[in-house]
Amino acid sequence: MEVVIVPDATAGGELIAEAIAALLGRKPDALLGVATGSTPLPVYQALTAKVRSGAVDASRARICQLDEYVGLPPGHPESYRSVVLREVIDPLGLSEKSFMGPDGAAEDVQAACDAYDKALAEAGGVDLQLLGIGTDGHIGFNEPCSSLASRTRIKTLTEQTRIDNARFFDDDIEQVPRHVITQGIGTILESRHPILLATGAGKADAVARTVEGPVASVVPASALQMHPHATVVVDEAAASKLK
Ligand code: F6R
Repeated sequence: MEVVIVPDATAGGELIAEAIAALLGRKPDALLGVATGSTPLPVYQALTAKVRSGAVDASRARICQLDEYVGLPPGHPESYRSVVLREVIDPLGLSEKSFMGPDGAAEDVQAACDAYDKALAEAGGVDLQLLGIGTDGHIGFNEPCSSLASRTRIKTLTEQTRIDNARFFDDDIEQVPRHVITQGIGTILESRHPILLATGAGKADAVARTVEGPVASVVPASALQMHPHATVVVDEAAASKLK
């Protein structure tokens, strides 16, 4: 596991946008796995700036979602499909056809999960998977004690994650869905290059346990230690509890 400490979130965004740009230079139709939440926004902003300046051609890039809420009505502004359309697909000038994600409104949720794993494999696998980390160490929405071999499936959010995400739902935890579809840890580990970005002091404990603790399902992100090519990018605040 490679750990890179950067001064701040903006620098982290720039560094990862550079990695994506280099990948698209080598493989213009690379499949990019994107996370939602606050942390990856500087990455999307830096990448968008590169595309708009003509420094990067992302026109053939393919984008896939990491996770999705279950039960939000189609088109809800906080569904992760809507967020990725707003923060990634539209700014990069891509079409919805280049974008795939699990169907959070499916009647048969497990069938939707299986179909998504199959679609990722048929697309050739994820070339670069951007990840954030929860304060409890989750990646995707693989909450503590998720199986390290798990596949895409439905999960129940912990109370802590619902509290953390209430800011996207008028600070009202009751509006935060209880269930999500998430790529499993086993699915995430199949990506060729997972890159976890963590910024801010609130992530310092989770980062220390991810990087320096034992590989354990109580800290799902620690599974990245088993990946031959995982990168963890942290700002100084998030790195503050590393030895
Ligand atoms: C979201 C996701 C989550 C977030 C994590 C951190 O797609 O996969 O694991 O990355 O909850 O969220 P933020 O970045 O908002 O602190």
